[in-house]
Amino acid sequence: MSGADWLADAVLYEIYPQSFADSDGDGIGDLPGVIAHLNYVASLGVDAIWFNPCFASPFVDAGYDVSDYLRIAPRYGTNDDLVRLVDAARARGIRVILDLVAGHTSVEHAWFQHELNASGPDPLGDRYVWCEEPPAAGWGSDLAGTPAWVRSPGPRPGYYLKNFFDAQPALNFGWTEVDPAEPWRDGTDAPGPRRNVESLKEILAFWLDRGVAGFRVDMAFSLVKGYDGEAAQRRSAAIWREIRDWLDVSYPGTVLIPEGREPRTGQRLAFDADFLLVIYGEHASLFDNGGAGLLPFHPQRPAYFDADGAGSTDLFVGAWEAIQADDPGRLVLLSSADHDFDRLCCGPRTAEQLGAALTFLLTWGTVPCLYYGDEIGMRYVPGSPDVEGAVCNPTYNRAGCRTPMQWDRSANAGFSTAEPDRLYLPIDPDPERPTVADQEDDPASTLALVRRLTALRRQVPALRTRSTTEVLHASYPFVYRRGGTHVVAVNPRREPATAQVISIDTAEVLVAQGLRLSADTLALDGFGYAVLAVRTTAAD
Ligand code: GLC
Repeated sequence: MSGADWLADAVLYEIYPQSFADSDGDGIGDLPGVIAHLNYVASLGVDAIWFNPCFASPFVDAGYDVSDYLRIAPRYGTNDDLVRLVDAARARGIRVILDLVAGHTSVEHAWFQHELNASGPDPLGDRYVWCEEPPAAGWGSDLAGTPAWVRSPGPRPGYYLKNFFDAQPALNFGWTEVDPAEPWRDGTDAPGPRRNVESLKEILAFWLDRGVAGFRVDMAFSLVKGYDGEAAQRRSAAIWREIRDWLDVSYPGTVLIPEGREPRTGQRLAFDADFLLVIYGEHASLFDNGGAGLLPFHPQRPAYFDADGAGSTDLFVGAWEAIQADDPGRLVLLSSADHDFDRLCCGPRTAEQLGAALTFLLTWGTVPCLYYGDEIGMRYVPGSPDVEGAVCNPTYNRAGCRTPMQWDRSANAGFSTAEPDRLYLPIDPDPERPTVADQEDDPASTLALVRRLTALRRQVPALRTRSTTEVLHASYPFVYRRGGTHVVAVNPRREPATAQVISIDTAEVLVAQGLRLSADTLALDGFGYAVLAVRTTAAD
């Protein structure tokens, strides 16, 4: 079975390891904590867990600054714990996907320390990009609002190129153009870049040998640098193509998921899916209501899944249809939220409004990815403190979506036995905060709805990724038909909404809240949703 085959039918669950479950009372989540909650994860009906980086790190960027790719960070446990976790998950039909930070390391990585402590270039080829003086233009100017070059703290003189924060030096995968005037630009086939590509394969092999099913690749298209950003992305994609060819022979069935959308190069694609990221406008047009601040990446617009009903699905549907037109059958991942921005429950959006969004997420033709805690409606906690690089700028605080999982009403919401001031981040202080325990046996809960929807997705092939998706009514309510046999309708706004789209006599209601069917009219109360089995074709 190819990786894409199982991914197509999967629901993913993203676990932020430091915030899920703390087994040893140090205030930080860990792998044994996840193992202890695997029955819960299985009860959600998910097929794979994606873990954010859990490797040795000084945690300047919450683990996206890796100091040893081959070692689980001691705060999370040991390599053996990861193997135990993979086995225990597999016993429950769940695969494990790790996060590969391919474009940069920590300054504490031995590779960087070696080059930092040298007096000049490594005769085997530099793994990082060093220059004596940053160029005045282009790569000398700005990356994400801060200088791209960081002055070397020595002994090696000069500057190194970073990829994100200063403590994350960019690995050298070469440049799209070389120029004798800028000798620090290696070609992509130079010894340094080649060493790094081979090292990526070794890292992948190391964890695949321990049973993981694949990788989400952080900043996947940032490997090759260039003055023409798009050309550089395409050249990065070529490296992934090479890695995919190697995987197909050595580890067939491995899933590779990029952070973002894979650039089209005319070659066979290297990744198994495109990821319509939370920070992309398409995702934001559905869910981002500004409650987590302003993202610098796209203009703020009303979110479709908000009570005011001022949003539109056009941008999202257009992007999804464009990908399908480019590459029929291409998988597209869509998450409820992720560790880089907000949550489904954010700003003015309340728990009662989540049913429509979750019904959409779990019945559309994308591959759904649930961010831990979204299944109980945990909220983005505004004003959370800046921990491990969570705050990127004053209006961009990622900590609010990274707060500890809320298990029950015991101390620290059951996340940890540590003193509250030792927790990774404070628990949501709201006394009404949702918990797993409160929702566990409540058939009207968000958790129950998620379980019902994932079960339906498993039972009904028409609701999965590879069946057709046709939009029948694009605004409020949003109505679409799956596989010719099922109709889904969601009305995330406060006001009721109706659509003349369906012959109701033959409908079987599988999931519904606030649904009223009469003659040829489908009406949904505010915040309503419905999944119907239909035996007749929908009206135009
Ligand atoms: C990705 C990660 C983010 C991290 C950054 C740098 O965008 O999702 O959390 O800070 O890469 O590695």
